[in-house]
Amino acid sequence: MVTIRVEKSSDTAAREALLDLAYGPVRFEKPSERLRSTRAPARGLSFVAVEHDRVIGTVRLWEVSAGPTCSALLLGPLAVDPAQRRRGIGSALMHHALRAAAKRGRGAVLLVGDAAYYSRFGFSAEPTGALWLPGLADKRRLLGCELTPGALDGVRGAIRVPERPVRTPLTAAVGRLAKPQAA
Ligand SMILES: CC(C)(COP(=O)(O)OP(=O)(O)OC[C@H]1O[C@@H](n2cnc3c(N)ncnc32)[C@H](O)[C@@H]1OP(=O)(O)O)[C@@H](O)C(=O)NCCC(=O)NCCS
Repeated sequence: MVTIRVEKSSDTAAREALLDLAYGPVRFEKPSERLRSTRAPARGLSFVAVEHDRVIGTVRLWEVSAGPTCSALLLGPLAVDPAQRRRGIGSALMHHALRAAAKRGRGAVLLVGDAAYYSRFGFSAEPTGALWLPGLADKRRLLGCELTPGALDGVRGAIRVPERPVRTPLTAAVGRLAKPQAA
């Protein structure tokens, strides 16, 4: 049986081997990789598909800023072991990741990929029309999915590593609780 769970540090080698197999060395040259290579993914938002104790699928989400005003998550890379494809594992990883992001109150997820695959999960190039990813030539591959309706309305500018820690609905609530109360 295939299980989807949060990635552990002991999965790192298997995840990297799987990404090498799925994408080859060009994976390090992708424009989206420039946003990922120097930092960790969003906490608790890396998932693996496991069967018989073996990692056969991976997906991760990363904090990004989308233009100056919008904080979003960048999804990727998504990969499934070539020998295990067309069993619905890629779809299960996508649904799991999007559900986890929505549960945290996140408004939008972005990715670079084929609309022919990702449209089934609600992604399209429509809400990313005024966004760009430095180094990405084919704008049709920049896709977005709103988890909160309107989250990408009017969003315009470059997709970048956020300069300051991202304030999500959860961290904002924790911040409010931590504030000293007036006597
Ligand atoms: C894309 C990927 C994650 C899908 O994993 P999977 O477990 O086979 O996915 P699912 O079983 O949920 O779905 C398989 C379906 O997606 C289709 N599909 C896979 N890649 C596709 C693509 N790039 N464009 C359109 N359809 C695609 C398959 O043809 C299959 O169609 P079918 O259901 O009609 O047979 C896997 O093929 C993979 O790791 N590919 C290499 C990395 C990659 O190219 N990732 C990004 C895609 S832009």
